[in-house]
Amino acid sequence: MSQENEKFLIFGNPIEHSKSPQMHNSAFDHLNLNSFYDKYLLTDGKKIKEIFNSENIKGANITVPHKEDAFRLADEVVGIANEIEAVNTYVKKDDKIYAYNTDAPGFLKAISDFGKIKSVLILGAGGTAKAIAMALKEENIEVRILNRSAEKLAFFKAQGFKTYTWGNFQMNHYDLIVNSTSAGLNNEDYPIKKTTLESIFLNAKYAFDCIYGKDTPFLKLAQAEGLKAKDGEDMLLYQGVLAFELFTDTLLDKETIEVMRKALKKDPVEDTIDNEEQK
Ligand SMILES: NC(=O)c1ccc[n+]([C@@H]2O[C@H](COP(=O)([O-])OP(=O)(O)OC[C@H]3O[C@@H](n4cnc5c(N)ncnc54)[C@H](OP(=O)(O)O)[C@@H]3O)[C@@H](O)[C@H]2O)c1
Repeated sequence: MSQENEKFLIFGNPIEHSKSPQMHNSAFDHLNLNSFYDKYLLTDGKKIKEIFNSENIKGANITVPHKEDAFRLADEVVGIANEIEAVNTYVKKDDKIYAYNTDAPGFLKAISDFGKIKSVLILGAGGTAKAIAMALKEENIEVRILNRSAEKLAFFKAQGFKTYTWGNFQMNHYDLIVNSTSAGLNNEDYPIKKTTLESIFLNAKYAFDCIYGKDTPFLKLAQAEGLKAKDGEDMLLYQGVLAFELFTDTLLDKETIEVMRKALKKDPVEDTIDNEEQK
């Protein structure tokens, strides 16, 4: 079990809307731990290690756009994060920074209530797609990637995935379609032309949108076509649960996980945010 009064941070830019502090602090409260988790607006990702060490913290989460810098600067990278080349969790042990990627196992946990999945089409080729693709590959699930443009597909090609752009996509059957693009996040866009998405869904069983807390056009269309569909809430929750378990060296029970889920559903707390310019 962890010590009392430990401090944790989430580094990102922007960071004001992050719900990670309320999720982690709700679990600390529920478990009667005096530890505290706060937001940190980090503009220069190259300073993450220096700031992590100077803040005297036990652990941190890292979000957009610093996951790759955090990977490069960690002392020890553990597990699948080595393949993804991006990390979202730092834990200090014996004066060393151990780095993990909990987005990947968090995604696997989130889709575990779908039926058996053998093939997946991922829409999008950003950082989230990398974590999802590598997690599925490790489970021996066949994965293909479809992205709007070619540039970000290089990573996936090098890892042996079959990739498509909008221009050369070939229809196929997939058990699961994942939207890992930001289409639908702050707009009503589909991640690909609506008619193409309709055809993709006609040949699929399940749909998962990484975006959470919003009925996106992708999700609405999947439901209209009779697919079992869910948003990204569980993915966000379980990456947090797994990070918390690494921070505290404990396994969380169902009750604490539900406390964390409830905290996620609240609006983000607007508060003072630390940043490196204040130092
Ligand atoms: N639930 C969770 O825990 C969780 C965790 C992480 C991220 N997310 C969500 O996942 C999404 C992706 O995050 P990320 O960090 O991977 O982003 P990212 O690295 O910026 O990648 C964004 C991807 O979306 C594509 N894209 C953007 N706008 C598009 C549009 N209008 N139509 C089609 N494709 C579009 C981009 O294609 P191009 O290459 O052509 O630009 C790129 O492949 C975000 O919505 C984020 O909120 C959720």
